[in-house]
Amino acid sequence: MRQGQAGAEGRVAVHDLVKRFGPVAAVDGVSLEVSPGEFVALLGPSGSGKTTILMAIAGFEYPTSGRIEIGGDDVTWAPANTRNLGMVFQRYTLFPHMSVAENIAFPLKMRGVARAERERRALAALETVRLGGYGERRPNQLSGGQQQRIALARAIVYQPRVLLMDEPLSALDKNLREEMQLEIKHLQQQLGITVVFVTHDQTEAMTMADRVAVLDHGRLQQVGAPRDLYETPATPFVAGFIGETNFLPGRTVAAAGDGMPVAVELDGGGRAEATAVGALAANAAVRVAVRPERLALAEPAGPGLAGTVIEAIYAGVATTCIADLGGERRVRARIAAGTGGRAWSAGERVGVSWQAADARAFATTAFGGQA
Ligand SMILES: Nc1ncnc2c1ncn2[C@@H]1O[C@H](COP(=O)(O)OP(=O)(O)OP(=O)(O)O)[C@@H](O)[C@H]1O
Ligand SMILES: [Mg+2]
Repeated sequence: MRQGQAGAEGRVAVHDLVKRFGPVAAVDGVSLEVSPGEFVALLGPSGSGKTTILMAIAGFEYPTSGRIEIGGDDVTWAPANTRNLGMVFQRYTLFPHMSVAENIAFPLKMRGVARAERERRALAALETVRLGGYGERRPNQLSGGQQQRIALARAIVYQPRVLLMDEPLSALDKNLREEMQLEIKHLQQQLGITVVFVTHDQTEAMTMADRVAVLDHGRLQQVGAPRDLYETPATPFVAGFIGETNFLPGRTVAAAGDGMPVAVELDGGGRAEATAVGALAANAAVRVAVRPERLALAEPAGPGLAGTVIEAIYAGVATTCIADLGGERRVRARIAAGTGGRAWSAGERVGVSWQAADARAFATTAFGGQA
């Protein structure tokens, strides 16, 4: 396989994409640029528009409005078979009556490549996915993971400029899925190919992708490196969807600019420090979002909000404490093993606190205030 084949032709740009199905806006104004050789994951809950975006890039769906560019060419209305993209889907789509080698060579046959050259390239693609020697088998003589590797080999054998994948690992069991995540990631790096990868599994997206595009209801919520999404979520949806988050409603004590510390008078009592996301007015309704591992538990006389431990769940690597802060507010605190914290048990009084830099205050009205 050639190295770094993406070049400039591997660039994908989606401009203000809208796709309606009757009254439903499956995709609602999404813009996204993918650099050559970059691995971008589209992540979101079921029905958020991931597959629809991928289908529009592939040319299997035409947009209601917006524009799609691949390698600088406007392909919005170009037929799928002219786009030179590789595709791998959730279910193995191998031809059952063909051998593995014939399956992989099929796209080359469709492109009029001579037999000897087809065989040579199919064998090379088999080696690339580490299944050399399996060429004569039928698909039904392979495991699920092997079949997906063959589907991958078939998608890369004609050296497409971009590889599109829609939940290619979701039919596999957990161990195999985790193995294949790294395998595909390494293969992508080795080939230098651009990948747009659809998944609803946040761990998968964060493991594999250079950048993750988070979608909800057809709208792009945030695009960023896994670390950025986790550490500095731009919306409450992202804060709640990526990892775990405690949300506490309240009102700002004073105005604060974007990224500035802000004090929040919490509904139900108590004051908390957080970092403003966007400019916040004084007395603005906000929700404070803070990760469980950022909560510090201390003796009740200490700093922070007073509460009661409801449950302490020991899970080896960490213990999760659920604390009731009164006023129907519950928070989860995660104490990593080996960090020297004391063990808490149900019924104990506790003080809950955190650093302003570790909590984010979102205006409740922003983005419809959804969770
Ligand atoms: N051909 C279609 N006709 C009508 N509605 C559609 C069609 N395809 C998708 N939709 C709707 O568009 C929305 C987005 O669907 P899409 O398949 O893109 O979601 P998804 O994020 O891929 O979800 P999943 O994780 O379940 O695969 C959904 O509300 C879906 O019902
Ligand atoms: Mg889908």
